[in-house]
Amino acid sequence: MSATTLAPDRPSIPWPWLTRGGRFSWTRMLVLVSAIAPGLVLLWLLGSGQMGAEPWKAAAKESGTWAIRFLLISLAVTPLRHVANWPQALTFRRMLGLVALGYAVLHLLMYAGHMAWDLPEIASEILLRFYLTLGFLVLLGLVVLGVTSTDGWQARLGRRWKALHRAVYALAAAGIFHQFLQAKSRADGAVLMAGVFLFLMAWRALPGRWRASPLALAGLAVLAAAGAAGVEFAWYALSSNLPAARILAANLDPGAGLRPAQLTLVLGLAVAVLPWLARLRWPGRAARAR
Ligand code: HEM
Repeated sequence: MSATTLAPDRPSIPWPWLTRGGRFSWTRMLVLVSAIAPGLVLLWLLGSGQMGAEPWKAAAKESGTWAIRFLLISLAVTPLRHVANWPQALTFRRMLGLVALGYAVLHLLMYAGHMAWDLPEIASEILLRFYLTLGFLVLLGLVVLGVTSTDGWQARLGRRWKALHRAVYALAAAGIFHQFLQAKSRADGAVLMAGVFLFLMAWRALPGRWRASPLALAGLAVLAAAGAAGVEFAWYALSSNLPAARILAANLDPGAGLRPAQLTLVLGLAVAVLPWLARLRWPGRAARAR
């Protein structure tokens, strides 16, 4: 859902598996199939009665999780382009953003199923419960970005298009807050998403020459992990009676299992290795980029 250049030979129907030149692309097809596979599996499990005692509720949780994951994956495309020296990554950004929107719509449908399709009740819940109102606003924002993600809208909006599409950062933050609010005292998933979001936003604040530096990326990983631990501490201290200080200390206890802040660190360090891998994979290209 972001800037792409206009191409004169754009196919009339921009099927996601076609390149801008209208050619079939196996890579695009693979990305598309991998992105929608969890949704298809989810629908199959729901349809075959394998989603537990409260199938719609479980499906709502699962689809919401995929919505936020794909929103963050779409935000990871620009960093990936630089870190892995992979310009082609940018051509997947719109598709991945639209996949996030698709999962968010599925999430609302699953919630509606959980509420027995009682539309007046669903509307009143969305109006009355803050976390649902917030989720609804995020969904509306994603719809606006999805609709205006086409070349036509990009040309029509001109410079305002970029400003509008920067709203995706606020939408991701609000989506994560929605996740925290519904998670209450089981916020591991939300803390991990917050850590990943912090990493992606902090990367954008890096000076250009450090954006593919393994050392700077490792530093970011440590910062994002510390940020995730801080967010987790603040969340439990402010919203629950749980011992927030002990939860914070568990991040330094190897016996406490993998904490979300630690997972943020692991993911960040994995990203820090990518520039080296890219140099091994594309030595010529890496040398040109330097
Ligand atoms: C009309 C809009 C929305 C409604 C009514 C809604 C409703 C809900 C509900 C009821 C839950 C709790 C599920 C449960 O535990 O029973 C939930 C969780 C969640 N929602 Fe939403 N939501 C909306 C929009 C969104 C959007 C736009 C996103 C992300 C972009 C999102 C991401 C999530 C996530 C990540 C969870 C946590 C799932 C988990 O527990 O693992 N939601 N939402």
